[in-house]
Amino acid sequence: MGPRGCQHKEVVGLLLAAVVVVLVSEHTLAIRWLGLHSSGNIHWNSSSACRSARNSLQLSRRQTRLCRTSPEVFAVVVRAAFTTVSVCQDVLQDRRWNCSSVLLAPNFTPDLTSGTREQAFVYALASAAVTHAVARACSSGLLPQCSCASPPREPPNGNFKWGGCGDNLRWASQFAAMFVDSSERHTSSLRYRERMRPKSATTRTSETDTEVHGVSERTTMTSINLHNNQVGRRLVESSVQSQCKCHGVSGSCSIRTCWRALPSRLQEIATRLVRRYPHSVAVRVGGAVGWKLLPARPSPGPLYSPDDLLYLNDSPDYCHRDYRTGSVGTHGRRCNSSVEGYSSCNNMCCGRGYETRWEERLERCHCKYYWCCYVKCKTCRTQVQVDYCN
Ligand SMILES: *[C@@H]1O[C@H](CO)[C@@H](O)[C@H](O)[C@H]1NC(C)=O
Ligand SMILES: *[C@@H]1O[C@H](CO)[C@@H](O)[C@H](O)[C@H]1NC(C)=O
Ligand SMILES: *[C@@H]1O[C@H](CO)[C@@H](O)[C@H](O)[C@H]1NC(C)=O
Repeated sequence: MGPRGCQHKEVVGLLLAAVVVVLVSEHTLAIRWLGLHSSGNIHWNSSSACRSARNSLQLSRRQTRLCRTSPEVFAVVVRAAFTTVSVCQDVLQDRRWNCSSVLLAPNFTPDLTSGTREQAFVYALASAAVTHAVARACSSGLLPQCSCASPPREPPNGNFKWGGCGDNLRWASQFAAMFVDSSERHTSSLRYRERMRPKSATTRTSETDTEVHGVSERTTMTSINLHNNQVGRRLVESSVQSQCKCHGVSGSCSIRTCWRALPSRLQEIATRLVRRYPHSVAVRVGGAVGWKLLPARPSPGPLYSPDDLLYLNDSPDYCHRDYRTGSVGTHGRRCNSSVEGYSSCNNMCCGRGYETRWEERLERCHCKYYWCCYVKCKTCRTQVQVDYCN
C-alpha cells in the first residue's frame, strides 16, 4: 500500500478512537459530580465557582442551580463526594478491584462506564453517601432547608417517648433522588433531543440503525444506574436505628426519649453494600413491551429485588493491566500469604506468585502509667513480613 493508503488508515484509526472516546464519555456523565471530591475549600456561594464546576464536571442544570442557590447543601454534597471516594477505597482495599479509579473522576475508565458490577457499587455508594450526609446535616441544624425528622408515626412500643432530633431521611432521600438522578435524566433528555433532530437524506439509513442500537444501550444503562441509585438510598433508609436517652432524677431513667438515627460513619453502610456486591444481578433488556430489565440468566426465584445491585456486563478478573477494560491489574499489590480469602496472595496475585519483604515498623511499646495522669511509651522497631504480588 502506498503512503496515501497509510495516511487513510491513520485517519480512520483516529476517527475510530474518537468514536470510542465519545461512546465511553457519554455514560460517564452520571457520576461526574464525584469529581467535586478534589475541589478543596472553594466557597460555593460565588457563581463563577459553580460555572467552572458545571463546565469541568458537566453538572446537570439542576445541580448547577443548586450550587448557585443553596451553597450550604452543595457543600454537603461536596463532602459526600469526598466521603464516597475515600470510603469506597477503604471498604474494598483487600479486593483486586480496589476502587482506586474513582480518583480519576470525572474522567472515568471503562471499569466504571461499561455497566459493570463495580459501576453498580459506586453508583449505589455515591447515592447513599449523599442521602447519609444530607440527613445528618439536617438534624445537626446545618441546613436552612430542613431540620429534625418528624417523629415516627407508629406509637412507641415500650417504655419511652419519641423525642430528640431524628435524622431527616425523608428530606434527604428526596434530595438525593433529585440531585443524583438528575444527571441521568439530563443525559437521557439530551440523547432524546439528539435522536429527534432531523437527519440529511443521504446518511439516514445507517445512522438510524446505529442510533436505535445506541439509544437502547444508553436507555438500559440509564435504567440500571437509576435502579442502583435507589438501592443506595434504600440502604441508608434501612440503616436507621433507635437511639435513646435517659432522663429522670439522678439517672433513674424514669423517662426515656428515643429518636431514629443513622450510623455516624458511612463505613457501616458501605460495609453492608459490600456484602451485596457479590450477589449483584446481571440484567438485559427484554420483554414484549421493551425497556424492561430482566435477569440475563434464568433464575428460579423472583426477578430481582429493589435492593439488588444490577449490572449489564461481566467484569474482567482485574488480574492484569488492560486499558480496554479499565483494569489496573494487581502487580505490586500487597497481599497476605497467611490468610485465606480476598487478600490472600493466592487470590490477589492470580497465581503469579508473590515476593516477601521484611519491613521495619515503628510502634509504641512498653507503655507505663504514671500517677497522675499520663502514659509514657517507648518506640520499638519491629520487623514484619509483607508480601507483594509479582
Ligand atoms: C462567600 O463566602 C465567603 C466566606 O463565607 C465570603 O468571604 C464572600 O464574601 C462570599 N461571597 C459572596 C459572593 O457572597
Ligand atoms: C489499589 O490498587 C492500586 C493498583 O494496583 C494500587 O496502586 C493502590 O495502592 C491500591 N490502593 C489501596 C488503598 O490499597
Ligand atoms: C497477615 O495476616 C495475619 C493474620 O490475620 C496478620 O497477623 C498479619 O499482620 C498480616 N500481615 C500483614 C503484613 O498485614
